[in-house]
Amino acid sequence: MAELQKDPVTRGQFLFMGVVGSLVGAVMTIPPVVFVLNPTIKTNLLGQSDIPDDWLELGSVFEIPSGEPKVYRVEFPQEQTYNGGGPLLGEDSMIQAVLVSWKEGEIPSILENGDQGSFSTSEIEELTQDLNVMSNHCAHLGCPVRWFPDRGEFLCPCHGGIYTINGGLIGGPPPQGLYKYAYEVREDGAIYVKHEFTNGEPWVV
Ligand code: FES
Repeated sequence: MAELQKDPVTRGQFLFMGVVGSLVGAVMTIPPVVFVLNPTIKTNLLGQSDIPDDWLELGSVFEIPSGEPKVYRVEFPQEQTYNGGGPLLGEDSMIQAVLVSWKEGEIPSILENGDQGSFSTSEIEELTQDLNVMSNHCAHLGCPVRWFPDRGEFLCPCHGGIYTINGGLIGGPPPQGLYKYAYEVREDGAIYVKHEFTNGEPWVV
């Protein structure tokens, strides 16, 4: 009579393989899930090169008013890749609102004479230092903030975050002020922005 063959996999081994299989499956699922939920999320899983860091023209220093921000709509080109260097999966664009204001709301005296010619290097430096170029996404969970002229503050409708015209945090749950874009002012007063932040990395913008 043939000898009964012993079960080659013990119950403990079977359970162990099940756990390992689940973990592997979960890890392989994360990138597609993140992509489907929000392809603009910048994480190490999706790489850091999703949005090329080219300079885009925003507007002119002559357009920024006194005492309130100007809101620009910017269309950042977007390239979707895995791991920031993998194959290009697609190209698209991402529209963002960019808030631009003068520090403390005051137009610099350089602009008061109405000269719209070209600026010297020192004037460009002064204009650059006087500008705030900010994301409109609240630094708490990313809701769009709004300017309230009667209060002279940005308010977040989601949980009550409050910011100054410079983007500084006044109150509420946000851990910091509004995120600031990398920007530059050119000789003719044009403001250029790139999709890069100088005071932290928002998890969604
Ligand atoms: S998202 Fe703005 S306070 Fe929470």
